[in-house]
Amino acid sequence: MRILLCGGAGYIGAHAYVVLAERGQDVVIADNFSNSSPGVLARLQRITGEPVPFHPLDLRDRGAVVDFFARQPFDAVVHFAALKSVGESCERPLDYFHNNITGTLNLLYGMQAAGVKRLVFSSSATVYGDPASVPVREDASLQVTNPYGRTKLVMEELIGDLCGSDAGFHAANLRYFNPVGAHASGLIGEDPAGIPNNLMPYICQVAVGRRERLSIYGGDYPTPDGTGVRDYIHVMDLARAHADALDYLVHERHNLTVNLGTGQGVSVLQLVNAFADASARDIPYQIVERRPGDVAAVYADPSLANRLLGWQAELGVEAMCRDAWRWQAQNPQGYPAA
Ligand code: NAD
Ligand code: UFG
Repeated sequence: MRILLCGGAGYIGAHAYVVLAERGQDVVIADNFSNSSPGVLARLQRITGEPVPFHPLDLRDRGAVVDFFARQPFDAVVHFAALKSVGESCERPLDYFHNNITGTLNLLYGMQAAGVKRLVFSSSATVYGDPASVPVREDASLQVTNPYGRTKLVMEELIGDLCGSDAGFHAANLRYFNPVGAHASGLIGEDPAGIPNNLMPYICQVAVGRRERLSIYGGDYPTPDGTGVRDYIHVMDLARAHADALDYLVHERHNLTVNLGTGQGVSVLQLVNAFADASARDIPYQIVERRPGDVAAVYADPSLANRLLGWQAELGVEAMCRDAWRWQAQNPQGYPAA
């Protein structure tokens, strides 16, 4: 198959590129580098041993998107391209609506005009908001708690409406929990711009000496050690699920919405301790006020993905920390300027 990875230069897209290329797929990346570095392309070439087909494309430009699809045949699209910071989305909601929702609409216009009828979409556990119970199943009620989450919910809904209007169009909504870790080579990994919002990249930057100490947001949650509990999933396990979802769309010809997590809740302190072990570094931390909008515990029931895709997470917290640390230690400042 010839597969377009929109936003494929980003953290998760780059790892999915490796898995799909290893499975012999013909993979093309399109990105506007708004939250990624061109340096990732050379690294992907080193890992796969092949030149990486890349096209600059901004999904906000509908004319460019439609033109792109008119010139390039694709069998499927994996849509990673989005802005993803919860805090930033509260400060700049319109930019998030424009980039994520209008960008997705433009992508769907381009696909429809070109007759491309398979889509794998990067959704998020954020669509569950503060779930009534854990582990969370896909039929749990959906809630919006911030503008970023609203964009994910709206994107799932408009993709669903398109599927409803065209029995030949099939989509997979993959609801990621908390992706962490890196490719075992240490050549690609998470490289956030500025101060990391998320826990694992912050820990990595403390370990490598770029930040003094971690602030743990809240030590009084109703969890076993008082810190927040999440479902961290190794990015290579996550990447594999994209290849499995594409197979599902081709062979089963059904739409799909599945959680992608391990099913195991891990606290902030547990992750910090696991990282300290894996890296043999101290991770200084202080416990501070809760972060507004955070919830106590969210983890997946991943059994539907197992049943429908035959997929399950294989890598545990130790591998997540080891691989994240290898990437950070080999690339203390992230990707080199291309
Ligand atoms: P990322 O920011 O590393 O990758 C997204 C890529 O999309 C970047 O390379 C960026 O330059 C590109 N992009 C953004 N807007 C674009 C546009 N208008 N046109 C073209 N390219 C554009 O993020 P990621 O962590 O790899 O996440 C990928 C997807 O998964 C996102 O949709 C995100 O919302 C979703 N997701 C991520 C997480 C997480 O914690 N990383 C969790 C749940 C869901
Ligand atoms: N945390 C800290 N200190 C930090 C950063 C995070 O203590 O510096 C804590 C948080 O309070 C939370 C846990 O670490 O308990 C995980 O926080 P992250 O920011 O890494 O992840 P979240 O679960 O808050 O959110 C992430 C993405 C969202 C996405 C969600 C579910 O940022 O976009 O996972 O996929 F919706």
